[in-house]
Amino acid sequence: MSGISRRSWIKKASYGSGLAALGSTGLFGSLSAEEIRKYNPRPVDSIIRLGSNENPYGPSESMRNAMTKGFDNGCRYPWGFNADLVKMISEKEGVPEDHIVLVAGSTEGLKIAGITFGGGGEIISCSPTFLSMMSYAELWGTDINWVPLNKDLDFDLDEIEKRVSYKTKMVFLCNPNNPTGKLLPADQVVDFCKTVSKQAVVFSDEAYYDYIREPNYPSMVELVKQGYDIVVSRTFSKVYGLAGIRMGYLIAKPELAKLLSDRVVANTNIMAIEASKAALLDKDFYQFSIQKANEAKALLTQTLDELKLPYLDSHTNFIFFHSGRDIKELNKTMYDRGFIIGRPFEPLNDWCRVSTGTIEEVKLYNQAITEVLG
Ligand SMILES: Cc1ncc(COP(=O)(O)O)c(C=O)c1O
Repeated sequence: MSGISRRSWIKKASYGSGLAALGSTGLFGSLSAEEIRKYNPRPVDSIIRLGSNENPYGPSESMRNAMTKGFDNGCRYPWGFNADLVKMISEKEGVPEDHIVLVAGSTEGLKIAGITFGGGGEIISCSPTFLSMMSYAELWGTDINWVPLNKDLDFDLDEIEKRVSYKTKMVFLCNPNNPTGKLLPADQVVDFCKTVSKQAVVFSDEAYYDYIREPNYPSMVELVKQGYDIVVSRTFSKVYGLAGIRMGYLIAKPELAKLLSDRVVANTNIMAIEASKAALLDKDFYQFSIQKANEAKALLTQTLDELKLPYLDSHTNFIFFHSGRDIKELNKTMYDRGFIIGRPFEPLNDWCRVSTGTIEEVKLYNQAITEVLG
């Protein structure tokens, strides 16, 4: 389908059959006028992006205002402006400020950790997972020891532990994992991290920590506080809706944090600092984001149930389901209908990862996927 005919398909879907699916209340019918102004959801008039696990409701009004004010300091280097944000993060996480390293999105944190600790040895991780650390470290000469996910599509902690050797410099955990969305049992992760971090640094990627539905699920920050060789990464890209603004942070004991901060490349910027400070204060938007992600997941899984397609229990802002179709083909078919969905995650080539868009976007997606797979 050409660009023009794709656009007209979307238009038709959005304002024709799609709108019908949304009910008589219209495109933004589920939001009050006040909410629309506050969260400014984009009109559904272009390609619908359900492929990168973004939060389509961000940035919130308070974050936008903070960035606008930040323009006044656009002529200044950001170093002098980091302190307040670091203080806020240290209070939130309950660690001293020398445990925090600000990074331009947690991807930068993953990359610098890969080259800080992986050099001259190997990193062990499971596959599939989020690749940034491993693909970057490989370019710098680090070997990657890949362990397949186990039969339940969980990180295979037993097998990782077996493979740890004198060559192992770091172990990468992603919990909840991308692309599965699954969460490991808390006691198993804690035991694993305590044991393995005595032999190699353990990196815990907690990009989706805020979406975890299990009450009191521990962050590995608790083990950082106890002095273990563990690095935790967090991001402002997901629940806070700032993926395009680029802000994340690492948490580690000061000896490790110093090694990491010495290797930061991109660094932060004034807009990202101001937006992130506002994000930490905007409790309403935080709750709203989680609520909307849960509503969207319920709609996605309802359709998957109707289609009788299995899916995994998600503690994130996306759903991973067994489409039974080759993902490259499905990517193309859905793109032609105006939707970007998740990329292939080998060897799970007949699985598909779909992110939570706005409620309106998800309804349109559900309609299209039903036509394609139903
Ligand atoms: C597990 C995981 N870690 C890190 C990231 C990167 O996030 P950031 O925008 O902070 O670089 C993502 C993005 O999708 C992710 O899924």
